[in-house]
Amino acid sequence: MSFQNPVFIPGPTNMPEALRKACDMPTIDHRSPLFGQILHPAREGVRKILKSDSAEIFIFPSTGTGGWETALTNTLSAGDKVLAARNGMFSHRWIDMCQRHGLKVEVVETPWGEGLPADRYEEILTADTGHEIKVVLATHNETATGVKSDIAAVRRALDAAGHPALLFVDGVSSIASMDFRFDEWGVDVAVTGSQKGFMLPAGLAIVGFSAKAMQATGTGTLPRTFFDVHDMAKGYANNAYPYTPAVGLLNGLNDACAMLLGEGLDNVFARHHRIAEGVRAAVRAWGLDLCARSPEVYSDTVSAIRTPEGFNATDIVTLAAEKYGVAYGTGLGEVAGKVFRIGHLGSLTDVMALSGIATAEMVMADLGLDIQLGSGVAAAQDVYRSPQPTHSRAAA
Ligand SMILES: Cc1ncc(COP(=O)(O)O)c(C=O)c1O
Repeated sequence: MSFQNPVFIPGPTNMPEALRKACDMPTIDHRSPLFGQILHPAREGVRKILKSDSAEIFIFPSTGTGGWETALTNTLSAGDKVLAARNGMFSHRWIDMCQRHGLKVEVVETPWGEGLPADRYEEILTADTGHEIKVVLATHNETATGVKSDIAAVRRALDAAGHPALLFVDGVSSIASMDFRFDEWGVDVAVTGSQKGFMLPAGLAIVGFSAKAMQATGTGTLPRTFFDVHDMAKGYANNAYPYTPAVGLLNGLNDACAMLLGEGLDNVFARHHRIAEGVRAAVRAWGLDLCARSPEVYSDTVSAIRTPEGFNATDIVTLAAEKYGVAYGTGLGEVAGKVFRIGHLGSLTDVMALSGIATAEMVMADLGLDIQLGSGVAAAQDVYRSPQPTHSRAAA
């Protein structure tokens, strides 16, 4: 079996060869200054990518889900109230985690395909005069629906209400691919993982804590052991972890940050935007719709594409894998069978994206959908042929 084809799942992403090699390194003593030379620059690189001067960066051997748990268990106590909107599978899972930890969640049910309702957040926060709500959850990029939300607007909602709740942002499928402004947006905890924008294998939960979130670690009483940020901070002070770190992945993370910062964050974001625009042009040419309801919420990392009524979108994913050896994302939860997803993040170029668009066309035509072969490719080519800076080829 050949693994030559790129993947078009919304993470784990395609990996640059240099990062694969960076993860594959000889064993070193993980309690030594040598380890510190990997760990500390990796944390500093993440801080820069979050656009923060002062966030405390913690990196656990885990995944994004462990990052959610780190955020909650280090700052909250059972019975605390959390405000969250459910607009897709990942916001749903974070809400579910809160409930399993005994937190009370005020859930704003939001149509899948729409962004976070900042206005509704403001009304609820304004009405919460007793400041019972301790945390507001915000999923920056709903990977299930291909919807990005306006985190600055959520911050404005908190400020307009004069509410002191902490702002926790899931940036698992946005950070390092789409603009993220930890300090400017007043984010208190940001969560991501290694396998999306950082272009690495899964295995690291990456979180940033603001000073205010660090303060909350002193009052929250939820049980925490593996994800205790204080144990982790003590370890870091001695060039170590409280347990055995994933050294190779951290080495990869260090190099990934250098690669992204070397390309330039604005260039990384522009590359993702252009590639996404090509995919969206293809979707229009196919006569299909995105799950995302309007251009201001279009995600630059993943497009969830609605298929015609009565057609099982999962068939596209299955046939693409079986016949062409190409991976797309299936629909999840409420949109299972109704959408398929093209992931377009991480180590990707225009030319790689064209192969994903072309294969999707072949599969849809094979399955009898009324798709003109070449229509989506031509529409994307128009986007990709427009003048583009030479950095567009940097990250593959
Ligand atoms: C937005 C979002 N949040 C959280 C997660 C969970 O992350 P993980 O699968 O790394 O635990 C994902 C995974 O795809 C995601 O896309």
